[in-house]
Amino acid sequence: MKIDAVTIFPEYFAPLELSLIGKAQERGLLNINVHDLRAFTTDVHHAVDDTPYGGGAGMVMMPEIWGAALDLLMTPTTDLIILTPAGRRFTQRMAEEFSTSEHLVFACGRYEGIDSRVGEHYSSKNYRVHEVSIGDYVLGGGEVASLVMIEAITRLLPGVVGNPDSLVEESHAQDGFLEYPMYTKPQMWRDICVPEILLSGNHGAIAKWRADEAKRRAKKQS
Ligand code: ADE
Repeated sequence: MKIDAVTIFPEYFAPLELSLIGKAQERGLLNINVHDLRAFTTDVHHAVDDTPYGGGAGMVMMPEIWGAALDLLMTPTTDLIILTPAGRRFTQRMAEEFSTSEHLVFACGRYEGIDSRVGEHYSSKNYRVHEVSIGDYVLGGGEVASLVMIEAITRLLPGVVGNPDSLVEESHAQDGFLEYPMYTKPQMWRDICVPEILLSGNHGAIAKWRADEAKRRAKKQS
């Protein structure tokens, strides 16, 4: 999978060198490139934003600069992801869908966001454009939201996570239930014992207990 991220803060993406995603890049499973939006500015101040038409507080990112950057990156197989708190809520299902894409481009807005015509333009040219939010809160920009999405998506790619069983077992992937509680050694820690059933060796009973616990957790969350 190829990923391009466009941002005015390329340094935000440094964590992509670490852990599973860093290793996946080294192994050639993943090709991530981060682009500085300011490289596409043409004025001496490298301005990327201007005041909103219609008035109001804050600044809006200018369409020409985004257009210059995205024209170079977009191909017919690209999924363009525009990060905005007004977008469709990111879910595990969406992560699964995006994990089958050949090429993702993340457009990280700052300030009050990117001029709406940018998404409109690429949609009208039949590109796949997705406005996505990672939750009902407002971040300083799309960079952290992109990192969240990139981690959730790329760990689903074949070979990125060492043991693929761990993906299958994840409850979000299974019927939408949250996972059951996990324990490891020692059997007793600070007077708290591991649930007896997990020591029983009865795999059927353990599976049932885990399913019940997962359901109980899911219910508590809703
Ligand atoms: N930019 C600012 N807030 C955001 C959010 N919640 N999701 C995606 N992008 C954002």
